[in-house]
Amino acid sequence: MKLTEKINKLRKDKNAIILAHYYQIPEIQDIADFVGDSLALAQKAKDSKADIIVFAGVHFMAETAKALNPNSKVLLPDLKAGCSLAESAPLDKFLEFKKDYPDHKVISYINCTADLKTVTDVVCTSSNALQIVESFPKNEKIIFGPDKNLGSYINKISDRNMVLWNGTCEVHDILEAEKVIELKVKNPDAPLVAHPECAAPVLELADYVGSTSGILNYVKNSASKKIIVATESGILHQMQKQSPEKQLIIVPSDETCSCNDCPYMKMITMEKIYNCLANESNEINLSQETIDKSLTPINRMLEISKKHKII
Ligand code: 13P
Ligand code: SF4
Repeated sequence: MKLTEKINKLRKDKNAIILAHYYQIPEIQDIADFVGDSLALAQKAKDSKADIIVFAGVHFMAETAKALNPNSKVLLPDLKAGCSLAESAPLDKFLEFKKDYPDHKVISYINCTADLKTVTDVVCTSSNALQIVESFPKNEKIIFGPDKNLGSYINKISDRNMVLWNGTCEVHDILEAEKVIELKVKNPDAPLVAHPECAAPVLELADYVGSTSGILNYVKNSASKKIIVATESGILHQMQKQSPEKQLIIVPSDETCSCNDCPYMKMITMEKIYNCLANESNEINLSQETIDKSLTPINRMLEISKKHKII
């Protein structure tokens, strides 16, 4: 039997589903029960009736799924699939930092550990960060972490002055404005779309800044036949499927490579999905206290997203 057939048989026998982020390799996106961005995956995990959720994504996403659906077994095919943003903000360091801001509320980007979420007032993703920030009065004192690029972008568009934790996504942060300018000069009619995890000089050049699903929608609905894309290369699979007639030009991270692969997302393979499903290994476990305390800010985010009809 081929690996895909074996995975299909196992997921049926075990009442399992595979949730995959858009940054997974095409083969995994194609076998997944659902492919989405961070917010959509959290919403899907919450509503799942499966006994097992195999999370084809990174550690913080699987932790969020476990908190939202504690009765399901959540499996992460490679437990080392982390995230530079989540790793930049361990709880003890954050609590030390927070001591200087005793009156501040905490908004945490979902790309952080479940531990950090336990000391967070509201979680956000790149799809809803603006609405989450704007749910607080203009004069509220806020710490935003761990992504300083997303935080400074939201500060700019919401005219706020949130205190920022100094973390970055190692994939988006290295995309350079000089490379974008070169591509814009060569392709003057092509709009630039960028994920808000990119640094400010890139975002300032963008015609559209948005989350992974926001970028996909923009490209689908754009009248342009050529688009310059500043984000992780995994997104190209769905983009090309949705808009086969469009030419997609990815912003390279260096001269020798035209692909911007997240090394953590790409740790997940078809073999690892099969193995963890077969052995029910690599389970994500959280203490009841962590589930309870991290769920409050996650659920606040889901309520605000629902109010604004953000999916
Ligand atoms: P979104 O899926 O929310 O756009 O986030 C991108 C990302 O970097 C996920 O780790
Ligand atoms: Fe983390 Fe960046 Fe990878 Fe997303 S793309 S998982 S933010 S390192």
